[in-house]
Amino acid sequence: MTREAPDESRWSFDTKQIHSGERLDGDYRARIPPIYQSTSFVFTDAETAANIFSLDNLDDFSYARGANPTNAAVERRIASLEGGLRAIAVGSGQAATTLALLNLVRTGDHVVASSHLYGGSLTLLQQRFSELGIGLTLVDDLNNPAAWRAAARPETRAFFAESIANPLGRVLDIESVAAVAHEVGVPLVIDNTLATPYLLRPIEYGADIVVHSTTKFLAGHGRAVGGIIVDSGRFDFGAQPQKWPGFTEPVDEFGGRDFWTRFGDRGLAYSVRLRITVLRDFGPSASAFNSFLLLQGLETLSLRMRQHVANSARVIEFLSEDPRVSSVHYSGSAPGERELVEKYLPRGGSSVFSFVHAGGYHAAVRFIESLQIFSHLANIGDVRSLAIHPASTVQVGVSAAEREKAGVPDSLIRLSVGIEDADDLIADLDQALSASIA
Ligand SMILES: Cc1ncc(COP(=O)(O)O)c(C=O)c1O
Repeated sequence: MTREAPDESRWSFDTKQIHSGERLDGDYRARIPPIYQSTSFVFTDAETAANIFSLDNLDDFSYARGANPTNAAVERRIASLEGGLRAIAVGSGQAATTLALLNLVRTGDHVVASSHLYGGSLTLLQQRFSELGIGLTLVDDLNNPAAWRAAARPETRAFFAESIANPLGRVLDIESVAAVAHEVGVPLVIDNTLATPYLLRPIEYGADIVVHSTTKFLAGHGRAVGGIIVDSGRFDFGAQPQKWPGFTEPVDEFGGRDFWTRFGDRGLAYSVRLRITVLRDFGPSASAFNSFLLLQGLETLSLRMRQHVANSARVIEFLSEDPRVSSVHYSGSAPGERELVEKYLPRGGSSVFSFVHAGGYHAAVRFIESLQIFSHLANIGDVRSLAIHPASTVQVGVSAAEREKAGVPDSLIRLSVGIEDADDLIADLDQALSASIA
């Protein structure tokens, strides 16, 4: 008896995170998607092989740099959770941002980005992209549409921002920034790492492309570096074809056809081009083993996020009332941001946020060294609680003045609150604060 495929669009998030995109292994009917640890896949016949290479068959596999069945299971699951059409798994979050943008820009083009970005994204845009001749304008006033409009130029090809910005938890007004991007005729690319699709789905508010470091909350276990690009399939590269030669100019190896006329009507132009140009040619593929570990984490995403959110609320309350702390910076704490939290984050804000230790630089260092449950390390989004003092670690080479300008003073501590017992976490912070001012 053949069963009908379920209508996944009717499922709730909790069901999708476990079942979306499932395809049972045909040989042994393994319940869990196997780790297809194989570099290459045997062609059943010459015609099948030809169809794969000519892109008439987009669902089969040939060589694992471009696609692998375990990665494909992750791609279907995360596309469904984000409400996107297609997703492409890659080797890291950094690779996801790089490829998402390199699929849009080339030498001479320009990107407008929020200045409230993960440091690695800033370095990528300010240094590596600049070396490739790709211009950048940063927008400080991230929720001022006029500032985004003023930063755009005729050669702009992408807007880029984080839905919740690292490390202060600033919330982006996605709808208004997407409106400006579309007015200017470029896609809005959102890094949704801190929010996860459980808290916020940027595509529902007009974003065109979403990227993630899956290393963080999506996996949640701190065991596998990874990244993913999710495409809504909605951006119209045909509206101004001369702006997008990568999509609209004929490609020799595809019989002189172009991506837009070939795949645009199915919403696949961006995702197919990404997989078979920038991913294939630059090569930062995801490993099947890491995708297997990521799938395991995804199954419990909503449960973990609910606990992250509840614990964070308790920790924020504790820190906000403590005289040893001069300020706490979380989603909704910046002036005028409360309404954005109500609109975009009804399930709660991110569990990555920061506070300023009232005792200054050395007290902040002593605090970090006194923590017993929180781990002192450079990561976020783990089930374990994590803490870092940017001034003595990731920003050690940045001048105090520049750090201050970026809203990261000398004694700022970034926390990533895990899913342990909230009372234990608060007791740990309390004892470390005491030890730091003794
Ligand atoms: C918001 C954000 N985006 C992207 C990245 C890069 O991800 P990865 O470390 O997986 O390359 C990070 C890493 O810390 C991040 O915090």
